[in-house]
Amino acid sequence: MTQAYTIDRGSNWRRQAVRDWLFGLDLVTAELQERIVTAWVSSWASSSHERLEDMPFSPGGNVFPLMQHVNEVTRAGVDLGKRAAADWGTELDPEVLVPILILHDLDKPLLYRRQGAGAVHTDLYHELPHGVIGAMMLKELGFAHAIVSTVATHATNAPFHGRNLEAHVLHYADLFAADHAFRAMGETPLYLRRR
Ligand SMILES: [Fe+2]
Ligand SMILES: [Fe+2]
Repeated sequence: MTQAYTIDRGSNWRRQAVRDWLFGLDLVTAELQERIVTAWVSSWASSSHERLEDMPFSPGGNVFPLMQHVNEVTRAGVDLGKRAAADWGTELDPEVLVPILILHDLDKPLLYRRQGAGAVHTDLYHELPHGVIGAMMLKELGFAHAIVSTVATHATNAPFHGRNLEAHVLHYADLFAADHAFRAMGETPLYLRRR
């Protein structure tokens, strides 16, 4: 592989498909919406997945659609953000929180490829950590530092997580939705796993 990904600002049919899929785009400015769509189009177009529906949440024998996971995380995170505002008096900036939620797993299409009914890791998975590749793309697309750094460090096995409230909200929204995906795949949810 000469390049992990390429930025794709064209592909109008892909842009439309991404717009039709993503929950929460209407919560941010038109300019930010375009940048979010370009990020997902770039990941999809750089991946082995022909259709958005083919993108897996995780490797394994069964596939849970990444499309569904992303929207579950965004919806849960937006709800938690409202809860934090009401109960803690802490307003979260939608221009920071919403992109973090929608884009946290931006690099997953590049990390897994389909094999039969399931999915396996790509070579890139072993070259750079999950989250870091997505953050590289976001930096290249000019996203704010809080978004780049939170995506870079969101993975459960990252050396540390962000201290900002958006990272806190993403963490619980992501684990909540991920455990639904693991249940649907017939795997043990993270909260029930013992080391
Ligand atoms: Fe992730
Ligand atoms: Fe996730």
